Amino acid sequence: MAENDFDLNDAYGLRSREDILRYYRTLAPNYDDDFAKAMDFRVPELIAEAYAAEAVGPVLDVGAGTGLLAAELRQRGVAPIDGIDISPEMIAIARGKGLYRKLHQADVTQPLNLPDSSYVGCVSSGTFTFGHVGPEAIDALLRVTESGGFFAFSIHSGVYAAAGFAARFCALEEDGWITAFRAADIAFYGPSATGPHSQDRGFVVTFRKV
Ligand SMILES: C[S@@+](CC[C@H](N)C(=O)[O-])C[C@H]1O[C@@H](n2cnc3c(N)ncnc32)[C@H](O)[C@@H]1O
Repeated sequence: MAENDFDLNDAYGLRSREDILRYYRTLAPNYDDDFAKAMDFRVPELIAEAYAAEAVGPVLDVGAGTGLLAAELRQRGVAPIDGIDISPEMIAIARGKGLYRKLHQADVTQPLNLPDSSYVGCVSSGTFTFGHVGPEAIDALLRVTESGGFFAFSIHSGVYAAAGFAARFCALEEDGWITAFRAADIAFYGPSATGPHSQDRGFVVTFRKV
């Protein structure tokens, strides 16, 4: 895929599980170059920085994709890392990089076949966005993380309030499920990004499970 053929509007317009599977089946071999490198995608590095400052492994990477966040975590000494992703083709690329202890092909919006309290933390980069995963996944991620565990997620500004993330975090904090909640405003892409989404912003959301 040539750089100019990549269009983030396609990713943001995904409507169904089948759309997501089809989209990432085609994109997987070119994701690192045609998307991440071409757009100067900053999010994996920012999530890894936020996570590594507070916590260690074992950590679960949600929407692991080709493993860009795992690479940043490993550079900062965080291990072991398990990953979960709906796309077998994205997982195959990640597996080839040898960064993960385990990789699960699963839909994170469905009941997760993982034991309670398996992880000391949970991370996600680029997956809580238009056309992808909404706040309905958060309760299961709390379940599989131990008490006191640390979370660092990116959430696109366009879905943060509109898709109910802000309301869900407020409710979880009020009900005593999470604490130390912070949302830091970030640019998703660096100065060399081009196109209509090059200025997109979002939040690095961090919190602890009570
Ligand atoms: C934009 S990519 C981000 C990949 C990687 N985290 C990164 O920062 O480069 C989003 C990933 O979310 C995955 N994804 C989308 N919906 C999902 C779902 N319901 N369950 C699990 N993974 C999903 C896609 O397959 C894709 O690999």
